[in-house]
Amino acid sequence: MLDSPQSVDELQEIRARIDAGLERFLPSPDRVPESLCRAMRYSLFPGGKRLRPLLTMAASRTLGGKESLAIPAACAIEMIHSYSLVHDDLPAMDNDDLRRGRPTSHRKFGEALAILSGDALLSLAFQILARHPEGESNGPLRLRVLQVIADAASAEGIIAGQVMDMETEGQPFTEQKLVEIHRHKTGVLINASVVSGAMAAGADETALGHIRAYGEAIGLAFQIVDDLLDVEGTTETLGKSTGKDARAAKATFPALLGLEASRRRAGRLVERARQAIRHLSPGTTLLDDIAGSILKRTH
Ligand code: IPE
Ligand code: IPE
Ligand code: MG
Ligand code: MG
Ligand code: MG
Repeated sequence: MLDSPQSVDELQEIRARIDAGLERFLPSPDRVPESLCRAMRYSLFPGGKRLRPLLTMAASRTLGGKESLAIPAACAIEMIHSYSLVHDDLPAMDNDDLRRGRPTSHRKFGEALAILSGDALLSLAFQILARHPEGESNGPLRLRVLQVIADAASAEGIIAGQVMDMETEGQPFTEQKLVEIHRHKTGVLINASVVSGAMAAGADETALGHIRAYGEAIGLAFQIVDDLLDVEGTTETLGKSTGKDARAAKATFPALLGLEASRRRAGRLVERARQAIRHLSPGTTLLDDIAGSILKRTH
């Protein structure tokens, strides 16, 4: 996903810590029905790019934060992301059979268990956020992070985006409407990822402002690239079926602006993201490289 060798190693190391965190936060199998446990794990492991938790950890590192304070938010966000994909793929929604190169959750476990495992992952995210990082002194941080992530997952966040996405299928749409859909269905959780990492590092309002501007820009860029890959990518590399957006007459950037202009738009947004963080100290290489990787990704 990345060019800079230093970041590749660093991101691999962070990814391993995220995986360990996800393992640790999953409920003990003896307290959960076995089928539910399997379905929850199926969506989390081996997982996808882990972009959102990487952003949380990268924002925290960039601002000199302690890893243990950012891990709970990173894992909770990946659980919310995973649940959102399980529900997004359902027959009543995008009706997809393939996700990350494997059958979608409902194809593997049946619709009912897929829906319930999504519910369980969403709830688990909030169980984690309510309890971690532990200790009375972390109470204010827990509450702030909980609010940011709850807002992103809410009827004013992802769910608004998913409803707008669904209701705009086959309908004429403006650029303003499209940006609104993409910001909600994808941008808000990506933004919450960097913001919660910055909060875990105790960022002041100025740094948070820069981080928010970065998150908003890459959030929109990420979904534009997702739309482009649905047109230009292959099922083999993407691990999901392609050409579905056009078949479902979805509101997408390629449908509105064409491929070239969509790619340029994503490029400008990534540039804007990089500008937004350039004065953050001690160093922004990680966040910078992640922003760059969004344009180059093939899956
Ligand atoms: C896919 O997200 C859904 C969108 C919001 C575009 P990702 O491309 O981050 O999915 P994984 O987790 O890497 O599979
Ligand atoms: C998914 O967007 C957004 C959420 C899951 C909230 P898409 O429907 O474009 O994602 P893919 O292409 O199925 O991964
Ligand atoms: Mg969708
Ligand atoms: Mg979909
Ligand atoms: Mg898509």
